[in-house]
Amino acid sequence: MNHDAIWQNLHLCPAGDINETLTEAAIVVRDGKVAWLGQQAALPAEYRKLPRHDMAGRWVTPGFIDCHTHLVYAGQRADEFALRLAGASYEEVARAGGGILSSVRATRAASEDELFRQSASRLEDLLAEGVSAVEIKSGYGLDLASEAKMLRVVRRLGQHYGITVRTTFLGAHALPPEYANKPDDYIGHLCQTMLPALAGEGLVDAVDVFCEKIGFNLAQTERVFATAQGLGLPVKLHAEQLSNLGGTALAARYKALSADHLEFLDEAGVAAMAASETVAVLLPGAYYFIRETQLPPLALLRQYEVPIAIATDSNPGTSPATSLLLMLNMACTLFRLTVREALLGVTQHAAKALALQDSHGLLAVGRSADFTVWSVASLSELAYWLGRNPAYQVVRQGRIQTRQKDTA
Ligand code: NIG
Ligand code: FE
Repeated sequence: MNHDAIWQNLHLCPAGDINETLTEAAIVVRDGKVAWLGQQAALPAEYRKLPRHDMAGRWVTPGFIDCHTHLVYAGQRADEFALRLAGASYEEVARAGGGILSSVRATRAASEDELFRQSASRLEDLLAEGVSAVEIKSGYGLDLASEAKMLRVVRRLGQHYGITVRTTFLGAHALPPEYANKPDDYIGHLCQTMLPALAGEGLVDAVDVFCEKIGFNLAQTERVFATAQGLGLPVKLHAEQLSNLGGTALAARYKALSADHLEFLDEAGVAAMAASETVAVLLPGAYYFIRETQLPPLALLRQYEVPIAIATDSNPGTSPATSLLLMLNMACTLFRLTVREALLGVTQHAAKALALQDSHGLLAVGRSADFTVWSVASLSELAYWLGRNPAYQVVRQGRIQTRQKDTA
């Protein structure tokens, strides 16, 4: 069926930048791609006969990008949440064998179909908010077969929903029980066997490490990065989340696509990121959920013009979030981002964090027609509502995915 059509009578924010908008605009979609966009009055004659969707002055943004998630896992950790409410810290729970390792047990035990089913339901929440590209990490398998299972589920999710997924191998997320007290042996196995095998199967788009006192140290992180580099894979890093180990500077030396979390980042780390053009991915859901009080160094990130992205970090331990819109609100409220910064953080800057800037995060002629029509009077509403989704239409590859109640 031919879906070529004109979306007209809309306000357009084509670059995710609220300072660059068009009113009385139109988008022409042909073969799933943007064929033309601009002021409606200037619509070229050749398109005038196409069917039209009237948007009654609603706002359109590019499809959003969630550039940091651990969306594929089995089970949940509400009991651990209750323990933390009673006074235990995230680190204490992890050291007692709970935390990430409890999700590893559940994920290893789940069949691939069951893992797909549980993860798909979370992904659908994101898609309903106009997410058209998502990064999903492994790291709840921690052995070759289970990490492969997770990454295959990620690929299947992308195919099933017709969205862009980027897989990130996070085998260095926690120490598996088989290697208790032998972190260097595990990193050796990861570098010699796991990562080359998974990369060989085409399951790895990037490589990440949890560089932290309860994760892996700088030397171990560098071994993983060197292996990734040898395989031609870009790296990312969970860095300076609970303490400052200097992981960001190491990541910058390896030209990391992004360094993520960053609450404890210092000026030297910010300067290193600026020099390597590494994106700072801020994760307000995790900051909120573990009741962190150390704020990421926003003033320094601005001063050094480091691009800032925002993501859900969707995971069972520190951010059981499936709403990127809620993260926009939290980034503004908790971290003091402006609405402009927040929206750039889920469009252009999030695309850059995944090396997708040439295809995603911006609506332009020739690019995939992935956009969301919002029933809002101003784009600030996208960061304003707490737990409300004003998406009117989600359009992917030129096809209307959902039509929701009009919230205006
Ligand atoms: O991004 N810090 C490591 N990884 C996750 C938490 C994973 C978990 O607790 O299951 C994070 O916060
Ligand atoms: Fe994370």
